Amino acid sequence: MEFFASTGTPAKQRTDCAIVGLYEDGSMSVAAGALDAALDGRLTRLVRQGDLSGKAAATLLLTDLAGLACKRILVVGLGARGSYGPKPYRKALATAFKAVIRTGAGTVVSYLADDSLSDTSPYYAARAVAEAASNAVYRIPDLKSGKKPPAPNLRRVGFPASERAQRREIDRGLTHGAGIAAGTACSRDLANLPANKCTPTHLATVARALAQEHATISVQVLNEPELRRLGMGAFLSVTAGTEEPARLIVARYRRSAKRKSRAPVALVGKGITFDSGGISLKQPQGMDEMKFDMTGAAAVLGTLKAAAVLELPVDLVVVVPTCENMPSGRATKPGDIVTSMSGQTIEVLNTDAEGRLILCDALTYVRRFKPATVIDVATLTGACVIALGVHLSGLMTRDDGLAADLLAAGARAEDRAWRMPIAEEYAEQLKSNFADFANVGGREGGAVTAACFLAKFTEGLSWAHLDIAGTAYAAGSQKSSTGRPVPLLVDYLIHRS
Ligand code: BES
Ligand code: MN
Ligand code: ZN
Repeated sequence: MEFFASTGTPAKQRTDCAIVGLYEDGSMSVAAGALDAALDGRLTRLVRQGDLSGKAAATLLLTDLAGLACKRILVVGLGARGSYGPKPYRKALATAFKAVIRTGAGTVVSYLADDSLSDTSPYYAARAVAEAASNAVYRIPDLKSGKKPPAPNLRRVGFPASERAQRREIDRGLTHGAGIAAGTACSRDLANLPANKCTPTHLATVARALAQEHATISVQVLNEPELRRLGMGAFLSVTAGTEEPARLIVARYRRSAKRKSRAPVALVGKGITFDSGGISLKQPQGMDEMKFDMTGAAAVLGTLKAAAVLELPVDLVVVVPTCENMPSGRATKPGDIVTSMSGQTIEVLNTDAEGRLILCDALTYVRRFKPATVIDVATLTGACVIALGVHLSGLMTRDDGLAADLLAAGARAEDRAWRMPIAEEYAEQLKSNFADFANVGGREGGAVTAACFLAKFTEGLSWAHLDIAGTAYAAGSQKSSTGRPVPLLVDYLIHRS
């Protein structure tokens, strides 16, 4: 898809569809007013008749627009004028692009960033358009055998840029939005694939393909003998029960080979391609959703792609420990004690608490890159879903500055997180009689004790943990990966650079 700054007025801009907003009280956005005037009050009459509503998510398509340069007008309800901010704006964009795709329009311009839109700069308003349009054309990589519905025709999307002074910010917003969307789509594609297609080997293949596409990315893939030589006993204990080979994917992004590299940002993603629970087997209900247990890996690979597409001036190290968690005669058993790469020993009381076991060795491994910051991303605990639901990701870190940066990035990107504690009192729940500590700390505060476990491996690092168990995918009839937290991570990197 292509994005452009549109300089014509709504009535004069040549397009297949102009998207304009109407408020709940029947008052029109500036662009809707301009089109209404050009149509001799046709919109006003429709409002008066009750055929056109400004209620949030209402839409009406007008065609047969003699005298105008646009072939169609899509009027979208924006809700109350007084509360028109980033959230209703994004909702209106999502509604609008869904409706626009049904019309078959190829070129559209969105005028939904009206004068009364508060708390949104032209940069973020334009970025939201690029993200919303790209997300609207996203299709699940389904494996249905029937004839595929035709791909959406939407090809060019414009954002009004009448003031010259705002032109650069708008172009930047559109570019960044397209980059974030590319990373999000990459992440969603991987997470939506079933576990028999998206294996650790497949994730490694996709990482290698990213390196083929972008000269700024290099990839190294470690196999099990190499992991054994590194002493990754915690990681290897998780893959013990499966036939599918485990991998450690190590990708680097450097904007220029010539520039002296700085201390990188390290992103670590949980890549459990299927989590059956192992010997501590999960119940069958909803177990298929555990194909999404590699969403952390998908998110950091998507973020890597976005960084390369946008040529962000940052240095990145992306580390993905990836394997299956399966029961078998060779599987790790409850009570087994394993030695992590850090040398610390772990009593595996529950083989279903496997994410922390693969992450702890990956977190020890990233130390060799002397990272400025380390962020791990994981569908780590059901307890986080109980604590925060499906709307906000859990954020745990001892670094207040990093917490502030990540929370701000989440707010700007509309991909929010909420901080939860890491404290010594919780860490005591991990006490073990037989090893340095156990891999579970009981039911109480399960998301926090999981973070406390990881904290034992990140001493002295600037490190944050994002628990995305609730936000990574939607369950139920709309079952699908959300692509989160790619927008948060990319916004964080944009602001760092
Ligand atoms: N992958 C799960 C966490 C999860 C649960 C992700 C629901 C998405 C939705 C993780 O490996 C797990 O099984 N965690 C256990 C930990 C427990 C055994 C301490 C859990 O949350 O029940
Ligand atoms: Mn598990
Ligand atoms: Zn898991």
